[in-house]
Amino acid sequence: MADIDFTAQSTIVTGASSGIGAAFARALAKRGSDVILVARRLDRLQDLASELERDHGVRATPIALDLSRPGAGPALAGEVAARGLTVTGLVNNAGFGTDGPFHEEDPDRLRDEIAVDVANLVDISRAFIEPLRQAGCGILVNVASLAAYAPGPDMAVYSACKAFVLSFTEALWFESRSSGLRVLSLAPGLTRTEFFDDLAGGAYAGSYQTPEQVVEAGLRSLDRGNRRPSLVSGRRNALAAGLGRFFTRRRAVLLSGMISARSRNTSATPAAPAHP
Ligand SMILES: NC(=O)c1ccc[n+]([C@@H]2O[C@H](COP(=O)([O-])OP(=O)(O)OC[C@H]3O[C@@H](n4cnc5c(N)ncnc54)[C@H](OP(=O)(O)O)[C@@H]3O)[C@@H](O)[C@H]2O)c1
Repeated sequence: MADIDFTAQSTIVTGASSGIGAAFARALAKRGSDVILVARRLDRLQDLASELERDHGVRATPIALDLSRPGAGPALAGEVAARGLTVTGLVNNAGFGTDGPFHEEDPDRLRDEIAVDVANLVDISRAFIEPLRQAGCGILVNVASLAAYAPGPDMAVYSACKAFVLSFTEALWFESRSSGLRVLSLAPGLTRTEFFDDLAGGAYAGSYQTPEQVVEAGLRSLDRGNRRPSLVSGRRNALAAGLGRFFTRRRAVLLSGMISARSRNTSATPAAPAHP
């Protein structure tokens, strides 16, 4: 199957102000797609939009939106329509994690986490799924995580959010098969971004990918005909995700909890992590 032709396409990328989202925007613009860049930090989006227009001659539109607020789907659809833009692709990448024992976590922060990582990912997908299916030539990528593949003690809500993203996206992959829209749940393992700035425990020790490697893996899978509904980026990460299959659920959560506890007890240089 031929690589996706992104010229004459227009792709929304949420969480485009840093990390994996910015790398997605750069890769898509390089391949000729117009991009609609969404996040809260407008200055960063404006800088990226100028860079992409200058370097790749595409139209890049920054839209500032707080995805922890309810109703992001209609809000974003309204902003897109007001600018007269059409949309053929969507990368739901915005997200953040919380860590620590559940009973110690800030309830407001957990609410925001579920809103950004799950509720508005669904809301935005629903707001754009019809135009995406009608266009029938673009991509719908939902960024999950290696954490989706096992329950995550000390990251209970984040892991559960990402498990939702994985399951939801795989179902959409099936529903979209005859539409031409290529759907993928993309699960990064440890990736060098600002993600860890938000975590109480800070960064984990381990082998990190770059955001560009994650994006390249995702786009390669989509180019190759989108035979898989989900992809774990990086061979080692894929192996770790697959291990769960060999354990009972009890064993899987015990193992995940032990790794997490070890990570937290050696906070400066934690052992090989189960997350994010
Ligand atoms: N880095 C990793 O190791 C790793 C591993 C597995 C999965 N992931 C997933 O990868 C995705 C991207 O994360 P990253 O690693 O690239 O981290 P990052 O550099 O911190 O980027 C997160 C992006 O999400 C946006 N965002 C967060 N809260 C938002 C809100 N309330 N409204 C709008 N945008 C919001 C941020 O933009 P603003 O702050 O400007 O709003 C930023 O652009 C996330 O879904 C994350 O869960 C990351």
